[in-house]
Amino acid sequence: MDQILQELKQSALAELETISDPESLEALRVAYLGRKGRLTLLIRSIKELPVEDRPRMGKATNQLKIELQKRFDGILSSLQSRDAERKAKEEAIDVTLPGISFLRGRKHPVAATLDEIIEVFSGLGFKLESGPEIETEYYNFDALNMPSDHPARDMQDTLYLKGGSLLRTHTSPVQIRTMEKTQPPLRMICAGKAFRADTADASHSPMFHQLEGLMVDRRVTLADLKGILTEFAHQIFGRNTRLRFRPSFFPFTEPSAEVDISCVVCGGEGCPLCSRRGWLEILGAGMVDPEVFKAVGYDPEKYTGFAFGMGIERIAMLKYGINDIRLFYENDLRFLHQF
Ligand code: DAH
Repeated sequence: MDQILQELKQSALAELETISDPESLEALRVAYLGRKGRLTLLIRSIKELPVEDRPRMGKATNQLKIELQKRFDGILSSLQSRDAERKAKEEAIDVTLPGISFLRGRKHPVAATLDEIIEVFSGLGFKLESGPEIETEYYNFDALNMPSDHPARDMQDTLYLKGGSLLRTHTSPVQIRTMEKTQPPLRMICAGKAFRADTADASHSPMFHQLEGLMVDRRVTLADLKGILTEFAHQIFGRNTRLRFRPSFFPFTEPSAEVDISCVVCGGEGCPLCSRRGWLEILGAGMVDPEVFKAVGYDPEKYTGFAFGMGIERIAMLKYGINDIRLFYENDLRFLHQF
């Protein structure tokens, strides 16, 4: 039995030499020290030895067991630390390497201007509504008191679709859609695309964006309109901006006005941007025509209201000093990167 014990020890130590990973180390441990391992079986067989040999063999096998146990543990921890070292090396970050750069997107200047304007009117209690870009003649014209002989319906302005629908020529139809589903008091804005059969030039585009506003309540007056638009102009163009209302005409408002702001470049002195007039037109507005209220079933004796509509591109051009509307749609990154 002494000899078997010696052999077992030699072979265990020899095999341990060849181990290079924790999995085969574990397999080897089981082969010697596991429940059916070679050393375990040897220890179990001691009870078959003559009584006088048993204590000595017991001691010898036990010593070997402890020794092997120690070796296994030692090798395991050195394998583990070698593994950890390799992993750390593999995963190390070289901070001196150049990074992978991403082309970062940003808001289009029209979208940025729109968001800013929406923010202003939200702060004044106006709720954001929306409506379809493909409209009926009723919503785009009739309900807005634009009769069938109105020049805006002309084929030159309006893009008609097969079946009589059309691309909305302004965002005003959303006024009608909102009033049809809401009772006063009401304060709404809406924004989106509008389409006209215009040839593109520095100030025209067949597709452009508008923002529309409407407030209806008892005793809403022109003074409310002026107050709201003044606050809007102050927030968008600066607190020194002055407002001017020029009498005008829109079928859906009475009275109507074109609203100008003092020139963003010269402040009113007169310069090339404002054609020496000192003023820049920014929007159309007025008190809602009673005919419009009748179309949506509001009582014009009970309610009054104001409405306004502006071109987003126009506001963005004034804000950023852009002189050609076509730049917004060309997708030229050299232009877009500047905002
Ligand atoms: N819808 C008009 C246009 O496209 C702009 C406008 C003017 C809207 C006066 C209004 C308004 O709501 O009251 O030219």
